[in-house]
Amino acid sequence: MADDKVLIFDTTLRDGEQSPGVAMNVEEKLEIARALERMRVDFIEAGFPASSPGDFESVAAIAKEVRGSVIAGLARAVQNDVDACWEAVKHAAQPRIHVFLSSSDIHMMHQLEKGRDEVLEMARTQVARAAKYCPDVEFSPMDATRSEPAYVYQMLTEVIDAGATTLNIPDTVGYAIPEEFAQLIRNIQENVPNIHKARLSVHCHNDLGLAVANSLAAVQVGVRQVETCVNGIGERAGNASLEEVVMAIKTRPDFFHLSTNIDTTQIHRTSRLVSQLTGMGVQPNKAIVGANAFRHQSGIHQHGVTKMRQTYEIMDPKDIGHPRGTVLVLNKNSGRHGLKARLDELGYEVTTRELDHLFGAFKDLADKKGEIDDRDLDALVSGERRSVEDIYKLDLLQVSCGNHLIPTATVRIIGPNGAMAETTSTGTGPVDAAYKALNELIGVKNRLLEYGITSVTEGIDAQGEVTVRIEADERTFVGRSADTDIIVASAKALLNAINRAIAHMPGEREAVTANP
Ligand code: KIV
Ligand code: ZN
Repeated sequence: MADDKVLIFDTTLRDGEQSPGVAMNVEEKLEIARALERMRVDFIEAGFPASSPGDFESVAAIAKEVRGSVIAGLARAVQNDVDACWEAVKHAAQPRIHVFLSSSDIHMMHQLEKGRDEVLEMARTQVARAAKYCPDVEFSPMDATRSEPAYVYQMLTEVIDAGATTLNIPDTVGYAIPEEFAQLIRNIQENVPNIHKARLSVHCHNDLGLAVANSLAAVQVGVRQVETCVNGIGERAGNASLEEVVMAIKTRPDFFHLSTNIDTTQIHRTSRLVSQLTGMGVQPNKAIVGANAFRHQSGIHQHGVTKMRQTYEIMDPKDIGHPRGTVLVLNKNSGRHGLKARLDELGYEVTTRELDHLFGAFKDLADKKGEIDDRDLDALVSGERRSVEDIYKLDLLQVSCGNHLIPTATVRIIGPNGAMAETTSTGTGPVDAAYKALNELIGVKNRLLEYGITSVTEGIDAQGEVTVRIEADERTFVGRSADTDIIVASAKALLNAINRAIAHMPGEREAVTANP
């Protein structure tokens, strides 16, 4: 590997999925994995196979299909985890087993309840086991930044001897400060005698807002693998954001003298996809991918950028695939060919069946909205792909509301056997009234945890994209939908979440099918 290349190890599907409330199904994870591959991420951590049958299935599915990136699975340093991890990643063109084990006294004492020697023995044994399966083994001493340095050096030395080929230094609780973190890396380079046999990596959390700064400080002292998540999602305050690390390296070659393999023009759409499928919105002022990242408000700035973009922009929005400046070519007169051609240009590989559905949805939207831009197409494609089997479909929704009316919704749905059911409810607002009617008709017990709405594009005719999170059967389910009518989008988003919940409750499914 060239020494001026920083490799990107993306853990959106593993640490990112550990964001509170995020739960994706196999198809959604595959879709993100395809987008990561398209962006030319070097390593995709596809999941934690021993953690649940669902995770195992997604890692195996990604390993079978995604051939352009190394596919890694996470494993605790226990035999079952390592075995399960190998069973899931073994299908990959280039598999990796990532073994982790805590190295800090606080974790060893209170979590593992084991002494230092026993922990060292676990690390050695399980790395050696992983290395028998797979030539590519990563090891992470969890909570490294709060561990006694000498113990970390010893652990790293022993796991390299046992077969680890990448050593990842996690700042698990986001505690480090950039200068201090860089010094820890230097100390590791100096005090681990066999360090030249392995690649160094870092994995930084953002509890103090320093995950990207710490990662870049490590890069500055020679680390050549950085672990990231798209949009910086992940446990608690998240992980180092992929787009920020990559664009810092790309924008400041004068400082870093380094590059990555990432096709940065895929960043914007991948960010949107991850946001849609996880239900985690991107804050407007988020660096690189926030809605305001390339918007200029003050007159002085607007004057500057219109004369010369670089006056107030350090990056070209086109470099991240930002749709600004895209020519609007699609409208209600466009045909299937035009739609297919634009989808191809955007990198979507759609099947003939998907195209049939998309074309119908595209025509409906174009009738309502006139011109359709790339962001509308993103919303249509992700709507098509995220659809679970629609056990219940919305057939009719009519609301009356206003400041002198009691908000009332009449809802008609089509159930699994084609039977229709209709009811009318009142509520505190039109969405509440529609939700009450839907819940009355379907009868699956659920609690609305979160409701969010964003606009897909600008303008009064924009589609509203609604994301809801519900709790049903002690699990969380996300539902999404986009429509130019926000009450319709809201109703469809709830139906989407309920359909997902039903798909997870086989017993419930038979019971509810009789309902309408
Ligand atoms: O934050 C952490 O320490 C981790 C490890 C599993 C690498 O996610
Ligand atoms: Zn982590």
